[in-house]
Amino acid sequence: MRFGYFDDANREYVITTPQTPYPWINYLGSEEFFGLISNTSGGYAFYKDARLRRITRFRYNSVPIDNGGRYFYINDGGDVWSHTWKPVKKDLTFYECRHGLGYSTFIGERNGVRVEQLAFVPKGVNAEVHRLKVKNTSNTNKSIKLFSFIEFCLWDAQDDATNFQRNFSTGEVEIQGSAIYHKTEYKERRNHYAFYSVNAPVAAYDTDRDAFIGLYNGFEAPDSVREGACKNSVASGWSPIAAHQVNIELAPGEEKILIFILGYVENPDEEKWESKGVINKAPAQAIMERFETNEGVEEAFKELKANWSSLLSHYTLQSDDEKLNRMVNIWNPYQCMVTFNMSRSASYFESGIGRGMGFRDSNQDLLGFVHQIPERARERILDIAATQFEDGSCYHQYQPLTKKGNNDIGSGFNDDPLWLILGTTAYIKETGDFGILEEKVPFDNDEKNTASLFEHLKVSFNHVINHLGPHGLPLIGRADWNDCLNLNCFSTTPGESFQTTENQAGGVAESVFIAGMFVYIGNEYITLCKEIGYEEEANRAQVEVDKMKKAVIEHGYDGEWFLRAYDFYGNKIGSNENEEGKIFIEPQGFCIMGGIGVEEGLAEKALHSVAERLDTAYGIVLNNPAFTKYYVEMGEISTYPQGYKENAGIFCHNNPWIACAETVIGRGDRAFEVYKKIAPAYLEDISDIHKTEPYVYSQMIAGKDAVRHGEAKNSWLTGTAAWNFITISQWILGIKPDYKGLKVDPCIPADWKGYTVTREFKGALYEITISNPHHVCRGVKEMLVDGKKIEGNTIPNFTEGTHKVEVTLG
Ligand code: BGC
Ligand code: NOJ
Repeated sequence: MRFGYFDDANREYVITTPQTPYPWINYLGSEEFFGLISNTSGGYAFYKDARLRRITRFRYNSVPIDNGGRYFYINDGGDVWSHTWKPVKKDLTFYECRHGLGYSTFIGERNGVRVEQLAFVPKGVNAEVHRLKVKNTSNTNKSIKLFSFIEFCLWDAQDDATNFQRNFSTGEVEIQGSAIYHKTEYKERRNHYAFYSVNAPVAAYDTDRDAFIGLYNGFEAPDSVREGACKNSVASGWSPIAAHQVNIELAPGEEKILIFILGYVENPDEEKWESKGVINKAPAQAIMERFETNEGVEEAFKELKANWSSLLSHYTLQSDDEKLNRMVNIWNPYQCMVTFNMSRSASYFESGIGRGMGFRDSNQDLLGFVHQIPERARERILDIAATQFEDGSCYHQYQPLTKKGNNDIGSGFNDDPLWLILGTTAYIKETGDFGILEEKVPFDNDEKNTASLFEHLKVSFNHVINHLGPHGLPLIGRADWNDCLNLNCFSTTPGESFQTTENQAGGVAESVFIAGMFVYIGNEYITLCKEIGYEEEANRAQVEVDKMKKAVIEHGYDGEWFLRAYDFYGNKIGSNENEEGKIFIEPQGFCIMGGIGVEEGLAEKALHSVAERLDTAYGIVLNNPAFTKYYVEMGEISTYPQGYKENAGIFCHNNPWIACAETVIGRGDRAFEVYKKIAPAYLEDISDIHKTEPYVYSQMIAGKDAVRHGEAKNSWLTGTAAWNFITISQWILGIKPDYKGLKVDPCIPADWKGYTVTREFKGALYEITISNPHHVCRGVKEMLVDGKKIEGNTIPNFTEGTHKVEVTLG
């Protein structure tokens, strides 16, 4: 069942009912100011950091769900309603929400009044614009009162949600004209305030929540709205809000436009005040002036749309498959931008206070984003590398505002360092900017202790070989990609975090997954060393990679698939010998991507086992059989009920690795089948089962052992976005950035006739047409570049112009 439809021409998902199976959200902003906004206008805004600089308040897991947001109310002669349906929930004669790239629109109509809202964050501006068009669609005069409402957060979202003894006494606002300024703590150490304004005279306002809503009401029935009059309340402590009352007279057919701005301003210390106790409002006023008229809004909106057209033009596909085009050209790159910006911090499943930027997460996110804005990927790589330690180990996360690493969610994940190599090589292949390797980057943000980025990659590589176990396989540390395989933790205390509890010393737990990663990413490292003429280092690395390959084949293969790990005591995990968790998905993907066991036929056997034991209609589960009891030596993985999360859920992030692995052995049909199973556009028809947004990936879909098989959770912030984008764009459609040029190596379903990819790469534009007259999965038979036949399958770097590339498979 569907709850809307894709409008590809406008690059929008159109939601036709407010009662979606879960709030279906969108993100506003992609630079410094961000908003989360649901299809009923729930959500919140923040500046840079969802935890430390929260602008509006949001209560997670509230009843009913998705409560609180940027709300508008209409009081039409006593009939109170909202055009976004929530919070009032009065029936609408028409409702529509369109989520587009960086903006959302809402239309609601009732009893002859139609409200149309456009919400977006203009480029280069630290503010959300909410433009409302209010129209009288009846044939009598209308005299309505429109109310706005937002609730300010006292900046640090964690403190705001817990420290009431202080916070109920600190709230302060200023009101000037139609603008309400939130200035809690500005008097002391803060140099920033927020504001909410409207470009029309207000009849009245409220800034104290209890005055506006009434202590015993909910958002759906504020006193001021019901009574038809705000009280001009001035917040003093408690909960500062901003609510405007605008009275509107409309003749039949008449429309009025109101422009609301929710903004954030920082003032330098010497410019904080206009006069004693009066904040300097000039920067806020400049923003308001820019959007005083609809022309200002239209212009900024056009700019936003044009920017997205340009970002998306870096990779576009024309194929016969409408859903595939939609994923590749619109929604997957869009989600890659969002995951790049948010890492795992703020969504409707990530509270914005739990996690910041993940070391491994952000390195992977940038793989899917680097072709959009390489300069931002560059900055990110340097930020991430600066949180690494001299021995190659890393903080698992850092806060975007401070860029400092912290151990809040644990440390010592032995896969982390390797992801930095992969992120960096992807960046250099995309840009040719080898210069980044010479950048001086601190260890642990200590400016007195720096090394070149290349050194950082080297210590990353070495970190693995300095931490090998008895089988010559990498020690796992806290855990590897799978946070929940905690082989050294042995936790028996309820509620204790598996991520931060001290590990038991003296174990020998090894990870076959990290071994596979080491081979795959080690090969990347070797190629890079050769590119920059570090032959000796390349040779040294080659020896280590070869050793690892051998170790995996000797000790990491279980007859029909790759083992997952050895535990603390040296017992096998992910082996046929185990009663539960006999086979895991992750090593099958990464070992084969690293080329291990391909010649020997082990890879094919392993992928056969994946299909046989792990596959379902909705995607491939992480492990099988699911764990049915708690295994103290395995940790968090065995805490989840069967079929959810890392215990045999379809943990989407790793499904693309299987699709990539399938291309390694040339099976394009199966690779595409694996790709499609979790790609949201293909799941639109089962939105009632899937529940989360049909335009973005979710982290997890309940697996075959789960009560709710097929139900997704944790939409938006998942490495799946980057990985399924790479899988389809590079491994299946086969357009791979490389040092020497664009490599063309498709591995597609045999029945495909062909397709065209337009790729912007290092300053030139390539129109690459792939024809498959002989219906093969793989193999470039002939390649013409600008009409001339070339040897091999790499398009040379042209650095400018438009080039036609004709590729025939066979
Ligand atoms: C989740 C992971 C997360 C980890 C650490 C696990 O329960 O499944 O996605 O990374 O906790 O917070
Ligand atoms: C989510 C985390 O963000 C990611 O880093 C991890 O790899 C997966 N969970 C699997 O545990």
